[in-house]
Amino acid sequence: MPEDEQETSGISRKHFIVAAGVGALAVPAALSAAGPASARVRPEAGRLLTPTPKCTDGDSTATPSQMEGPYFKPNSPERADLTTPGMPGTKLTVSGIVYSQSCKPINRALLDFWQADNNGNYDNTGFTLRGHQYTDAQGRFTLTTIVPGLYPGRTRHIHVKLQAPGRSILTTQTYFPNEPRNQTDSLYDPRLLMKVTSGPNGRDAVIDFVLRVP
Ligand SMILES: [Fe+2]
Repeated sequence: MPEDEQETSGISRKHFIVAAGVGALAVPAALSAAGPASARVRPEAGRLLTPTPKCTDGDSTATPSQMEGPYFKPNSPERADLTTPGMPGTKLTVSGIVYSQSCKPINRALLDFWQADNNGNYDNTGFTLRGHQYTDAQGRFTLTTIVPGLYPGRTRHIHVKLQAPGRSILTTQTYFPNEPRNQTDSLYDPRLLMKVTSGPNGRDAVIDFVLRVP
C-alpha cells in the first residue's frame, strides 16, 4: 500500500535525469523573440492591431508547481500510450497544449507523466503507467492512460514534469473534477483541474499548461 505523499524539499534535482538530456536543446527561434506577444501592439496603416489573445485557459499565468511526491522515477520510456493489453481501469485520454507565458505553443516541450494504477498503487520496480513524450510544433500532447485509482491521503491525480527546451523543469499534478476527496486533500489546487468528459470508450480530459518561458 503506498504511503501518503510527503513533501520532500530538495528531492527534485536528483531526479531530473530525463530532463537533463533535454536541457541541452537549443531554444527554438520562436521562443527567443524579444518581449511577450501579449504586450506588443503593432501599428499598421495608422491603427492598432488587436494584441495576441490570452491563453485558452483564460489567462497566461504560469501553471503552479506541486510537490513531486515519493514515486517519481527517472528514465521513463518515451511513449504517449501508458496502457497495456488487459490493463484494468477506465480508459483515459489527456490532451492539451503547452504554452509559453506569451501564449505561444512550445514545440518539443517535455512531459513526463507518472500515476497510480487502478488500485491506487505505483509501479516502483518497473515503469508501468510511466512515460514521457514531447509536444508537436503546435505545442500539443496526447496521453493515453487509465483513470488513476485512489490511495490513502490523496484525491485522484496524475503527476507530470514539464520542461521547455533548455528551460527549468516544472513539477506539478493534475486533478479530476467532482471528486469528493478534492475537498479534503490539502494538495488539491483547482487551478490544476482538468476538463473531463465521459464517452463510450472512457473519459477525455483536457488541460493546458503555461511554462515560465517568455
Ligand atoms: Fe501521487
